[in-house]
Amino acid sequence: MLQKTSNRFNAQDLWQKDHDHFLHPYTHFDSFKKEGSLVLAEGEGCYVTDVSGKRYFDGIAGMWCVNVGYGRREIAEVMAEQALTLCYTTTFVDVSNAPAAELASKLAELAPGSLNHVAFATSGSCAVDTAIRLAHYYQSRRGEPDRRFIISRKNSYHGSTYLGMSVGRRDGDQSPHFRYVPDLVHHLSAPYPYRRPEGMSLEAFSDFLVEEFRAKIEELGAENIAAFIAEPAQASGGVTIPPPRYLERMRDLCTKNGILFIADEIVTAFGRLGHFFASKDEFGIIPDIIVAAKGLTSGYIPLSATIYSDEIHEVISAPDPDAWFTHGYTYSGHPVACAVGVKNIEIIEREDLCANAAKVGDYLEKRLATLADLPIVGDVRGRRLMMCLEYVKDKRTREKLSDEVNISKRISNECEANGLLVRPLGHLDILSPPLTMTMAEVDFIVETLGKAIRKATDELSREGAL
Ligand SMILES: Cc1ncc(COP(=O)(O)O)c(C=O)c1O
Repeated sequence: MLQKTSNRFNAQDLWQKDHDHFLHPYTHFDSFKKEGSLVLAEGEGCYVTDVSGKRYFDGIAGMWCVNVGYGRREIAEVMAEQALTLCYTTTFVDVSNAPAAELASKLAELAPGSLNHVAFATSGSCAVDTAIRLAHYYQSRRGEPDRRFIISRKNSYHGSTYLGMSVGRRDGDQSPHFRYVPDLVHHLSAPYPYRRPEGMSLEAFSDFLVEEFRAKIEELGAENIAAFIAEPAQASGGVTIPPPRYLERMRDLCTKNGILFIADEIVTAFGRLGHFFASKDEFGIIPDIIVAAKGLTSGYIPLSATIYSDEIHEVISAPDPDAWFTHGYTYSGHPVACAVGVKNIEIIEREDLCANAAKVGDYLEKRLATLADLPIVGDVRGRRLMMCLEYVKDKRTREKLSDEVNISKRISNECEANGLLVRPLGHLDILSPPLTMTMAEVDFIVETLGKAIRKATDELSREGAL
């Protein structure tokens, strides 16, 4: 049995091994060479402890992941039991296993509308890939094989496979040293209300975005477009809540033009906004396909799902002796991962964690809003347990601080020193805590973050950067 204390780790040795041998996702080589990693060792509830024994409130739940909190014994037990009972089956063609069948059926029950069919994978990126391949397959099988373009938006993140990186389009993601899929994806403007054109009302901004989509359909020809993909609330592209009725109107344009609406709910599903799925319950739309991951297993094990409608299923499964859906992975419907998914959902339901997320999330929104008065806080936005602060040099003009100031990292470093993990990203610090958080922990987050921002502001004034 593993000893659950941090003093069993040799902190320096682990730091060095990580530094010398592990190529991290999104490595920034210059700073990584100097600073290396924060090596974490343990987690309990909303807290994590690093290898030297320092404890932090995890304000980002791993990375939008650990919705039910760390250290759930019943999840570990389900994992162990399933690994002993049946650790693996293929699910290719006509073999399955009990947890995969149970989880697929549970997701069909929870998902909105007629989204009653599920393909499993191991990451959000692979779920997005599946959704796009499914869209192409569906369009072709219904007799429209020319429909291949994918419409996405700027500031979106849809994963880091070769295709995912071409579908998403955040500033800075498209490194000139990589290659991307050409001539497949077209990007519309981001629904980023804080940085909408000056003087434009939110309603006019919504009109502008919808009109841009309509014009793009006309330019490309609806008969050439397979799908539109959107995070209902853009996550790492800025934690943006779209303007009023934007998503409904985009959904409407998709329906009228035979374009599938893919909702990337990899962040928003499984309680973060207070619902199992945000598309319908928060934003009033029923997509054709939803992709989910992260909160599906609360990060205890990699698993993702692409959930799609009866209408799509009827078309793709229509009688045709030559038709094979030649897509899927060795670990699709992995029994251990699916057993964890079933247990994780059971916990969310039993403890009514969506309701807790709504309650503490509303409080987090209200308390964070008090930081909007600080001189470098340009915007406090998001919804419930998906929040961020955007820092600026000038609140009136919304001018950004220079990149050299590294504002979000400065503030997150100070939070870290005071026992709080937030996620720095460009000019933003992001918060996405576990759904089990308490009101007192909301107060701790806001006080710690507020102090860190004040300290950074004083430093910037002294340095003449403001
Ligand atoms: C909205 C969204 N889509 C897709 C992905 C990709 O998921 P993964 O990193 O599991 O491949 C992410 C990951 O953060 C995400 O936030």
